[in-house]
Amino acid sequence: MTNHEIKISFKEYNSVNELSAADQTLCAEAVKAMENSHSPYSKFRVGAALQLKSGEIIHGSNQENVAYPSGLCAERVALFYWGANYPDDPIETMAITAHTDEFKILKPVTSCGSCLQVLAEYEKKQNQPVKIILYCKDGPIWVANGIESFLPFLFFEDRLS
Ligand code: THU
Repeated sequence: MTNHEIKISFKEYNSVNELSAADQTLCAEAVKAMENSHSPYSKFRVGAALQLKSGEIIHGSNQENVAYPSGLCAERVALFYWGANYPDDPIETMAITAHTDEFKILKPVTSCGSCLQVLAEYEKKQNQPVKIILYCKDGPIWVANGIESFLPFLFFEDRLS
């Protein structure tokens, strides 16, 4: 038997003011993205903003449906939009935030496994890691460089591509 341990690393900031000006702007864009969240069922609004190399910013928000499984997370709305429209303009940074009137969110909202797996695919495709900023307005901010910090056991099989 062999025991393995995996270390992940991310940075924690106490205030958005500690981030670079560009990253602060992207957090504000993620907040803006939440405006178009369609979340009448969960009442949990999520916004994602992608900073592309060209300077373009892409917004995504969670889109729910009365047929619940038909809805989609904010991250994948933004990422699939990128894949469909800007595949040659690398994603440098992704900021994600959430809000609900039902309770106070005091720690960063971490993306679900499906969104992380989709991001992993695009990191491979663009051959460049994405800086991930989990922006929490009333709590700490977590920043990771690349998907492997959040999904160390992501699925990838070179022979399928
Ligand atoms: N949601 C996201 O948009 N991103 C995530 O990574 C997790 C959850 C959305 C899906 C649903 O509309 C609401 O949050 C509650 O789960």
